[in-house]
Amino acid sequence: MKMMAWFTLLTVLILGQLQAQVFAKTLEDTIAYCDDCHGPNGVSQDSAIPTIAGFSATTTTDMMFAYLDGDRPANKVGFRSGDTSRAAIDMITIAKALSEEEIETLADHYAKQKFLAAKQDYDKGLAEKGGTVHQEKCIKCHQAGGSAADDDAGILAGQWIPYLQQAFDEYRSGKRESSAMVKALKALSDDEVKALLNFYASQQ
Ligand code: HEC
Ligand code: HEC
Repeated sequence: MKMMAWFTLLTVLILGQLQAQVFAKTLEDTIAYCDDCHGPNGVSQDSAIPTIAGFSATTTTDMMFAYLDGDRPANKVGFRSGDTSRAAIDMITIAKALSEEEIETLADHYAKQKFLAAKQDYDKGLAEKGGTVHQEKCIKCHQAGGSAADDDAGILAGQWIPYLQQAFDEYRSGKRESSAMVKALKALSDDEVKALLNFYASQQ
């Protein structure tokens, strides 16, 4: 009985701490918290973390709900700037600590930031092939080479290759759900995936 009470208290303490860690006091603090991983104004400086600047508010909100609804896996990662000694945390835990209103406010904020393409190497020949695959199989929902925010499907053009590779793997293995997408992605060969990654990286 006594043990149980302690256990409950401990759980409350841990949860309390977790929330204090995630819930920043003001919107500015919360944005700074997000930017400590996603980069200044949501433009990622780290190839494992996606740039979220310039996504439509609907896209960001949908993505946060995909984490909440269990439609999407999340990796535990460390902070890239600010206090980098903070414990690693994942997007599901972060999304859970936010209210719906906070999610919408953050989504509006990032929609107003400018998406800047990642400066990264790519293979020109593969990029050309990828452009053809994109035109055939992806253009319907990812307009303008995957750079149009208002198609509400994220921004692929100029996103970091390692992050996009992770996204492809998650969809193709069924870890990440998307009724619209999975069929299109599962039908691709590994060579087509490689070509597409180079095509998106070539748009700088
Ligand atoms: C500790 C690092 C970290 C922090 C802090 C963080 N994120 Fe993330 N975020 C990631 C990583 C890594 C991913 C890539 C997906 C994955 O591995 O889970 C991601 C993915 C996302 C995505 C999906 C992007 C896409 O292209 O699909 C959105 C939206 C997002 N984060 C918003 C936020 C917001 C808003 C905050 C602040 C409340 C935030 N993140 C704080 C690391 C972080
Ligand atoms: C029927 C519409 C549709 C088609 C066709 C489609 N997509 Fe998507 N895609 C979406 C939507 C909507 C999203 C937003 C996230 C989700 O639903 O999981 C998305 C998200 C993505 C993401 C994740 C972006 C991120 O930031 O996490 C990648 C990568 C992607 N699509 C690649 C492709 C590629 C490559 C093709 C062509 C082979 C393709 N998609 C075809 C609708 C589509």
